[in-house]
Amino acid sequence: MKIIFIGPPGSGKGTQAKRLASRFAIPHISTGDMLREAVADGTPLGQQAAPIMASGGLVPDDLMIGIIDERLARPDAQKGFILDGFPRTLVQAEKLDGILGNGDDPLRVLQLLVPDDAIVHRITLRRTCAQCGAIYHLEHNPPANDSVCDRCGAEVIARPDDTEEAVRKRLESFHRQTMPVATYYKSKRILREVDGVGPLDVVFERIEKSLT
Ligand code: AP5
Repeated sequence: MKIIFIGPPGSGKGTQAKRLASRFAIPHISTGDMLREAVADGTPLGQQAAPIMASGGLVPDDLMIGIIDERLARPDAQKGFILDGFPRTLVQAEKLDGILGNGDDPLRVLQLLVPDDAIVHRITLRRTCAQCGAIYHLEHNPPANDSVCDRCGAEVIARPDDTEEAVRKRLESFHRQTMPVATYYKSKRILREVDGVGPLDVVFERIEKSLT
């Protein structure tokens, strides 16, 4: 299974990709998570990415392509993967074609459809575990114990780019730079659109059905 998740910020890519990765026992490769790890570790990449991410902008293509090229070459990605947050620009999509070549497994692209007006509510009430990356929502999927992660017990926090101002910029960037990626995959007839509105389990069922 080689799967790409496309969707606006807060559409549920991370939430659903984690579940799907565990269902198929393939790695969930989230460029957002990789960048946040680099920021937390204070690496040169993290130092460059931190202000861009906080403001809702996109990290330069050449950096992102290098990260993905290296990640997809690792042994655990040879049996399949779920890409979440990459590609985000047409340049990244074209480079990814080159990286993947003509493998046996067909690429499947899932686009989660969620209207913009639902996004801000989702993101401003999102909380993320600072340690293991588990995703919560204060209304739809809260941690059992206030700000403590159910899974690992670490602190659950709001991401620095989850301010209303940054979310609006991320949405604008999605429409301008990432929607052409969806159109690119549509023209290759490998794009499947999935309604991302509804309870988490219902959306997951739709995703599973779209993969059959
Ligand atoms: P990234 O981490 O990829 O952020 P994003 O694409 O904006 O997506 P999010 O993580 O915000 O949302 P999501 O769709 O995963 O939703 P989630 O499941 O959390 O990237 C962050 C930044 O890194 C970018 O802005 C950019 O700067 C940089 N970057 C990353 N990749 C890059 C690239 N390739 N090129 C350049 N720059 C790059 O769900 C959101 C909330 O909604 C949660 O609280 C969840 O519990 C809730 N929720 C989920 N599903 C439902 C539902 N069905 N109903 C109600 N609530 C729901």
